[in-house]
Amino acid sequence: MQITLEGHDQPVPVRAGDTMLEALLRAGVAFPFSCQAGNCGTCKCELVSGDILELEHSEHALAPEQRAKGIILACRTQVWDDAVIRRIDAEDLVMHPSRVMRCRVLELETLTHDIRGVHLAIEAGGALTFSAGQYAQLEFAPGLSRHYSMANTPDEAELVFHVRHMPGGRTSRYVAEQLKIGDQVKVSAPFGIAYLREQHAGPVLLIAGGSGLAPIQSIASTLLGRGYKQPVALYFGVRGERDLYHETMLKDLAARHPSFKYHIVLSEQKSGGRRYGLVHEAVDADLTSTENLMAYLAGPPVMVEAATALLGTRGLAPRQIHADAFYNQL
Ligand SMILES: Cc1cc2nc3c(=O)[nH]c(=O)nc-3n(C[C@H](O)[C@H](O)[C@H](O)COP(=O)(O)OP(=O)(O)OC[C@H]3O[C@@H](n4cnc5c(N)ncnc54)[C@H](O)[C@@H]3O)c2cc1C
Ligand code: FES
Repeated sequence: MQITLEGHDQPVPVRAGDTMLEALLRAGVAFPFSCQAGNCGTCKCELVSGDILELEHSEHALAPEQRAKGIILACRTQVWDDAVIRRIDAEDLVMHPSRVMRCRVLELETLTHDIRGVHLAIEAGGALTFSAGQYAQLEFAPGLSRHYSMANTPDEAELVFHVRHMPGGRTSRYVAEQLKIGDQVKVSAPFGIAYLREQHAGPVLLIAGGSGLAPIQSIASTLLGRGYKQPVALYFGVRGERDLYHETMLKDLAARHPSFKYHIVLSEQKSGGRRYGLVHEAVDADLTSTENLMAYLAGPPVMVEAATALLGTRGLAPRQIHADAFYNQL
């Protein structure tokens, strides 16, 4: 049994019980994925032909109307006979070479009571090229390996991550309590397809929740750094004042770039002069036109799913929405 990915020279062998994604990755094919659990939609592709079995997945990852058009999730599809698939969005798919790098912790910052900024220098295996918005797999110690998004821009040599200490989380607890300057970290990158579409020339909407600011600030800084003149609106949702960080950086970007506006929205604390409510509700209240808009979202799954659903109801097509929900990798 085999899968043929259109545009890829060699068909890929499939073992019984494999998902398409497992078979593709084992064969070394560069294929986008994230949660590997049918939650995020990153591995969406089109089934051209073949007998398949679709496993359970969330509607956020694959809506019934897309499914009806032959779109499948490679991570939730088993192959029962030879199959042919096609990448979607192939025209704007950017593939950077994958790297496995030895890095060293240069600096650790306290960004909030539960978010740490981790700065890494690449010592071997680089240099890394990536698109703003992508993420890496960071291995701090054996068995402590998770995805974290680059907060730096692609032209900066130092890698920067914002790691939130998740209650009960093993890796983020290690980062919060044990990681120290000088430690070695293994970094594999880049991954993800929620990256800045360089060809787009219209208004941009950025929505971040908590440590989701990391990839969103990378996208904003990259865009503005190259003199983007179209409106760029960034919404940053946090629970309360103590969860807010990098406000000075946002203020500074807004002062230097008239096309950039940012909105901080607190969901659990009313605080003088700040907007209050859920971040997607603030977006809904402000959004006057969705024409030629490109949206990028990152942060907790519930926020990303609510904001994605809102943008869908406001008329944005899936190709206008690029989202990374920070799903647990259990
Ligand atoms: C594409 C992507 C990008 C990401 N980028 C970032 C980023 O930039 N910044 C960031 O802070 N995070 C990011 N994340 C999230 C990050 O990868 C981790 O999921 C997060 O740090 C938690 O990892 P952990 O090892 O600390 O928690 P885990 O040990 O994986 O636990 C996660 C949660 O599950 C619970 N849990 C653990 N074991 C079980 C069990 N057996 N049964 C039920 N529940 C259990 C824990 O209590 C905890 O609440 C990203 C995720 C993805 C998918
Ligand atoms: S990788 Fe398949 S849905 Fe997330």
